[in-house]
Amino acid sequence: MIFHDLHHEEENFYQEVQKGLLKANKKLPPKFFYDRLGSDLFSQITSLPEYYLTRTELNILHHQGESIGKLLPENLIIVEYGCGSSEKIFHLLNVLRSPSSYVAIDISREHLLDLAKGLVSDFPKLEIIAICADFTKKFNLPLNGKHQNLPRLAFFPGSSIGNFEPEGAQAFLQQIADEMGPGGGLLIGVDLKKPDDVLHQAYNDQQGLTARFNKNVLKRINRELGGNFDLGKFQHRAFYNPTEGRIEMHLESMEDQCIPINGYKVEFSQGETIHTENSYKYHISEFQNLAASAGWSAQAVWTDPKKFFSLQYFISNK
Ligand code: AVJ
Repeated sequence: MIFHDLHHEEENFYQEVQKGLLKANKKLPPKFFYDRLGSDLFSQITSLPEYYLTRTELNILHHQGESIGKLLPENLIIVEYGCGSSEKIFHLLNVLRSPSSYVAIDISREHLLDLAKGLVSDFPKLEIIAICADFTKKFNLPLNGKHQNLPRLAFFPGSSIGNFEPEGAQAFLQQIADEMGPGGGLLIGVDLKKPDDVLHQAYNDQQGLTARFNKNVLKRINRELGGNFDLGKFQHRAFYNPTEGRIEMHLESMEDQCIPINGYKVEFSQGETIHTENSYKYHISEFQNLAASAGWSAQAVWTDPKKFFSLQYFISNK
């Protein structure tokens, strides 16, 4: 296993938090949820009864594995964007024909290394390259001469693409197309539009794990940037915005307050929010059109019987 550390979170975190919190409409990028605790909380969310996404995607991989394995080329180099410590890659590797390399990219060093180490013994013939990096930023994949003639597949499960605004998603899909090269593939998990109450519950679970996950970003600002947020004075808010076709997560201030953060102050009036995440939901055709605008042509879509979630396969036409 080869490990590359390209992640210099310290400077980014300070600057991006300051920029986001001093805006008229306060916001924070969702990638900051994923420190060690946040990544742990997210993994716990994936097994909640209300959070249908992960379970449904795994079921699709399980039930349609054979057809997926048949369609994808042999000897693939698989590049996973934001793997966390998710077991999905195990399921994919099991149905692929002699995959050659797996490049795992994640912002959470601990979760990335846990995953990479766990793969070594299960897939002794597979080359494993772990890269700790913010995949939303452009960087060069550490692939060289011996990788040159092998087909590449971008694996982007979990509907993380939903975190991008449609324009950002288009730009990111274009970037992936460049990285995969001519004829490269994309296997992507996309959460679908569905009744509001199902969506609402998935982001407002009874145990309050999603609330803790959301508030963890404030905890992190306190600990790493010398912030002074009182977590008891903010409330988790998550709702479906039908006009935009997205779940929005916010942290709502329960009173007027002023929070000093190492060098500047952030003022809140009661009811004001920090917008912490969008999670876009697509119709299959909406997503195919978006991908097409980024140079990808649709090859196949696998879904579950309720059509809650989709796994979509594209080939780059660049
Ligand atoms: C990891 C971005 C797919 O949007 O459902 C889970 C993150 N946020 N609960 C999602 C999340 C709140 C998740 N993604």
